[in-house]
Amino acid sequence: MKLTLRAVIIGLLGISLVALVIVRGCRSPRDKGQILYELHCESCHGKNGEGFYSYPPIAGADYLETHKNEVACMIYYGMENPIVVNGEAYHGRMLGNTQLTEVQIANLANYIFSFPGNSGATFNQADIQNQLENCSGSVVK
Ligand code: HEC
Repeated sequence: MKLTLRAVIIGLLGISLVALVIVRGCRSPRDKGQILYELHCESCHGKNGEGFYSYPPIAGADYLETHKNEVACMIYYGMENPIVVNGEAYHGRMLGNTQLTEVQIANLANYIFSFPGNSGATFNQADIQNQLENCSGSVVK
C-alpha cells in the first residue's frame, strides 16, 4: 500500500515536471518580453511602465516613440544624458544590458511598445541588429 502511494506521488511529480517543461517551452514572444521586463526593467520603470520618481515612464512616453530607432541601443548600452519625457526633465543613469541577445531585446522592445499609450510598434531580430550597428546620441557606450 505504502509503495503504491509512493509510486503515485512520484508519477504525479513526473507528470507535473513534463507539463512545466511543455508550458515553459510554449511561451509566446510577448510572455518572454514580459519576463525579461520584470527581471531587468520593472524595478525602476514600474510594472506597467508608469515610471517612478526619477525614473521616467515608458508607457505613453513621447521620448520612446520619437526614439523608436534607438530602443535597442538604449536597452543594450544604457543611457546617461539629460532627456525630457512628457515635458519632465530626467538626468539619471540607466545601465546597459549587454548580456541580452538580439532576440531578447526584440521581445523586450515589442513588450514595452505594447504598454498602454504606446504605438504597438514591433521589431524583429534584423531591426535590432541594424539599430545596434548604428547607436549614437544620448546612449552610453
Ligand atoms: C536602475 C534603474 C533602471 C533600470 C533597471 C532600467 N532603467 Fe530605463 N531608465 C532609467 C533612467 C534613470 C532613465 C533616464 C536616463 C537619462 O536620464 O538619460 C531611463 C530611461 C529609459 C528609457 C528612455 C526614456 C523613456 O521613458 O522613454 C527607456 C525606453 C528605458 N529606460 C527602458 C528601459 C528598459 C526596457 C529597461 C530594462 C531592460 C530599463 N529601462 C531598465 C533607469 C532604469
